[in-house]
Amino acid sequence: MSADGFSASPPPGARADWTIDQGWETYSPAEHEVWITLYERQTALLRDRACDAFLKGLDALDLHRAGIPDFARINEELQRLTGWSVVAVPGLVPDDVFFDHLANRRFPAGRFIRKPEELDYLQEPDIFHDVFGHVPMLTDPVFADYMQAYGEGGRRALDLGVLANLARLYWYTVEFGLMQTPQGLRIYGAGIVSSRSESIFALEDTSPNRIGFDLERVMRTPYRIDDFQQAYFVIDSIQTLQEVTLQDFAPIYERLAGAADIGIAEMLPGDSVLTRGSQAYAANGGRLAQT
Ligand code: PHE
Ligand code: FE
Repeated sequence: MSADGFSASPPPGARADWTIDQGWETYSPAEHEVWITLYERQTALLRDRACDAFLKGLDALDLHRAGIPDFARINEELQRLTGWSVVAVPGLVPDDVFFDHLANRRFPAGRFIRKPEELDYLQEPDIFHDVFGHVPMLTDPVFADYMQAYGEGGRRALDLGVLANLARLYWYTVEFGLMQTPQGLRIYGAGIVSSRSESIFALEDTSPNRIGFDLERVMRTPYRIDDFQQAYFVIDSIQTLQEVTLQDFAPIYERLAGAADIGIAEMLPGDSVLTRGSQAYAANGGRLAQT
């Protein structure tokens, strides 16, 4: 534990809370080009695939203007809308630092952008994933409150030693969540909207399971970090997601301690099934087979 109360010290050049300056003036024209390419590709694809809150947020923040967004500029509007801001960090930050930012309505974002030769797949989240993927949803007042509550819940889960369970909630909502709307199934998860191939796979492929969101079920389901998800969980609205997560998780954590994990592609009798997936993509070796 360092002097400021965080578990690990920040890298040289970063502040105690791991933030750095974005240094917007130092992006090269080629880096701005990568943003514009990705932005145009994804907005064309997402017009009929992302949920309204995401599309509305994208417009409100005017994210494409002049390439990579200047955090100082988008923060003015974001602050006005929901009191959130984006802060730059060198890369992934420790869990306790991450939760502290969220609990204070700050979203930590990488400042670097992927190379032109890795437009479709990269290991670590870059500014396109973090800002294009996450920030539009933070303009929605209910989602904004959910993210802050998640930060507070994260600190608590860390103390209780149950972070593995809570992390699945983040994964299957904030990163890979789908929403049922009167217009059809829509995407709100940042990990999907920032990926061309998964934006199509998550909604249209016959391979993955699509299951109605159930809090405890989600917290018992492991996830993949290396390939498309084998299961997606579908919420009815941001409002209902916020309502079920308002409850005290302590009794749930106790029950989960005695419960086995569910297989990643398993279906349970109690599941509300939207798609019983063929799992053909995963069975054929997934991304390994593609390259
Ligand atoms: N209600 C949760 C708890 O008691 C906190 C939380 C809220 C977690 C929203 C995730 C999302 O721990
Ligand atoms: Fe993310």
